[in-house]
Amino acid sequence: MQMKIIAGNWKMNGSVSMLQKFYEKLADVKTNNKIIICPPFTLLNMGTNSPKNLDLGAQDCSINENGAFTGDISAAMIAETGAKYVIVGHSERRIYHNETNEMVAKKASIAAANGLIPIICIGETADDKKAGRTLDVINAQIKTSVPAELSDFIIAYEPVWAIGTGIIPTSEEIESVHTHIAALIPAPILYGGSVNSNNAGQIMSIKNVSGVLIGGASLKLDDFLSIIKSTDN
Ligand code: 13P
Repeated sequence: MQMKIIAGNWKMNGSVSMLQKFYEKLADVKTNNKIIICPPFTLLNMGTNSPKNLDLGAQDCSINENGAFTGDISAAMIAETGAKYVIVGHSERRIYHNETNEMVAKKASIAAANGLIPIICIGETADDKKAGRTLDVINAQIKTSVPAELSDFIIAYEPVWAIGTGIIPTSEEIESVHTHIAALIPAPILYGGSVNSNNAGQIMSIKNVSGVLIGGASLKLDDFLSIIKSTDN
């Protein structure tokens, strides 16, 4: 299997000691895959000590360059920690922080301008899917959350109804959405939503799936390692 991108989104979980434990184990892992961990902002400075096969990313960045925006973290600050990636437009940001496609596009542009690779999340809700609107939603999100001038970026297709639910689309559904996205934009396309050590290998063998963005299972070291190894056969 070709090189895959295996990214863990720790969300609001993790600690210095937890990331340290991941470093110790990952240092011994031989893999051609690209491994990324996106821990909370407070752990990003640990990127300077990460094993060679691992890069860190942030889970969000400010829409602004700098200034009086209490509590915000800018893309430049993230880049200064040595982090290489930043997730933008995760559905939890869109839902809990009212982020729009336009805001996501602005964040992706600021991230890229500061040398970070944005991981732009898109995906339909359960209602969209029920109404047969999946591809319309994907088209609109790509059109308005991905800045036209962007060259180095990653798309994460995360159906909102599959996040943290244990329910995943069929392989045919994943292939059809990923193939649709691949025809629209030239970027690696990750699948995210209830990826675990049992289904990751199968998901990553689907056409046009460049890797996975993992939530819950990326917090368990053994599961994360087994997902990394699941492509090595
Ligand atoms: P789960 O893997 O916990 O479903 O979360 C997916 C996700 O939101 C990754 O960004």
